[in-house]
Amino acid sequence: MTRHSPQVSKSQINEVLNSAGGVVRACTENATVGVEGGVFYHDPVMLHGCLQGLRLEGGSELNEACEIIADGTFVDCTLGGGGHSYAIATRLSAAGTLHAFDRDDDAVQFASRRLAGVAPRFVVHPVAFAQLGSEIPADSLDGVLYDLGISSHQVDDSGRGFTFVGNNPLDLRMDRREDVSAQEWLRTVSADDLAYALRKNADMDRAFKLATRIVEVAAATAKEGCEILPSHIKEAVESVFPDKRRDANSLMARVFQAVRMEVNGELGQIETSIRAAVDCLKVGGRLVIMSYHSVEDRCVKDVCAEFEKACVCPEHLPVCMCGGNHQRLRKVNRKPILPTEEEIAINSRARSAKLRVYERI
Ligand SMILES: C[S@@+](CC[C@H](N)C(=O)[O-])C[C@H]1O[C@@H](n2cnc3c(N)ncnc32)[C@H](O)[C@@H]1O
Repeated sequence: MTRHSPQVSKSQINEVLNSAGGVVRACTENATVGVEGGVFYHDPVMLHGCLQGLRLEGGSELNEACEIIADGTFVDCTLGGGGHSYAIATRLSAAGTLHAFDRDDDAVQFASRRLAGVAPRFVVHPVAFAQLGSEIPADSLDGVLYDLGISSHQVDDSGRGFTFVGNNPLDLRMDRREDVSAQEWLRTVSADDLAYALRKNADMDRAFKLATRIVEVAAATAKEGCEILPSHIKEAVESVFPDKRRDANSLMARVFQAVRMEVNGELGQIETSIRAAVDCLKVGGRLVIMSYHSVEDRCVKDVCAEFEKACVCPEHLPVCMCGGNHQRLRKVNRKPILPTEEEIAINSRARSAKLRVYERI
C-alpha cells in the first residue's frame, strides 16, 4: 500500500519560511508533508570539500588562498535534508543570500523548517533544478552546488517506492506532482526503449532480455489488477541472470537506478541545469558537483568539457575560425576528490561520491 502523506497548503509553507524572512517561490497548492516526527535522515557528503569549493571555508587545493565569500549569493540545487544548505547558511554574513532548489515536497518542507532562522536571506524554489535559468538572473552567483541523486530519506521511506527492500509498489518519482510513476512508465514502455534505458543509465548486460521479461511482468500485473512490486522485478532479474544469484541485490539496484533516472529525466535535468549555471555564475564563481555513479559523472564531465574548450570550430577545419576565446569554465581540481576512509566508515552512502569543482572564467 502506498502511504499517503497529509496535505499542507502553500500558506503553511510560507508561514514556516516567513518566520525567518524566507520565501517559497512557485510552490504548488498541494505540497505534501511526508516527514514524520521531523525525521529526515541524510548525512551531507564531503561537506568541507563542498564548502571549500564554494569558497566558504579555507584549506585544501580547492581554496588555497582561504578566500571566504561570506557576502555572496549561492544556490544549493539539491536541498534534500538541508545538510549542505545549513552549513552554507551558517557561513554567510547578513548580506549573503542562499537559494535552494528541490522538487521533492518532503525535502522542501523539512529543510525549510531546519533553515528557518539560520539563513539571513533564504529563498526556496520547490521546482526542478533544470529551471535554474528561469529562476535566477545571469551573472549573479558566486557558487552553485549539486549533490546529485536521491537522499537517504527518499530511500528509507518505503512508502516512496524508491527501494526494493520491503516490497512496496514501485514509484520512484522525486516530484509527486508528476503524473508518471515507475509503474505507469513500465506499463507503457517498449522492451526496446527499456533495454536502451538499462544500458544507458546502468551499463547493464543482457538488457534486451531483461527488458522483455520486465515488460511481460508489468503487463501481467496490469491484467491481474495488481501493482508492480520489487518481487516481480526480482523474478525477472533471476530468470535472466540465473548464474548471478549472489549479485541479485546489486542487479536490482541497477534496474531501480535505470528506471528512476528515466522516470525523473535525470540526465536531461543535469545537462540543462549545468548549462544554465554557467550563465548564472559571475566570472570567478564556482560550480561544485558531487556525483554518485559513473553514468552521472560522465554526464557532468561531458557537459563541463564543452565549456572548457577555447575553440569551438568543427574538427575538420585546419585552422581556428571562431576566435578561440570561448572557454567559460576551468577545472579547479584536476582529478575528482573522493571521500576519506573515515567518512565512508561513518556514512556508507559517501563511498561512491566524486567531487568536481569548476570556476567560471
Ligand atoms: C543527495 S540529496 C541532497 C542532500 C542534501 N545535500 C543534504 O545534505 O541533505 C539530492 C536531493 O536533490 C533532489 N533532486 C534531485 N534531482 C533534482 C532535480 N532535477 N531538481 C530538483 N531537485 C532534485 C532530490 O529530491 C533530493 O532531495
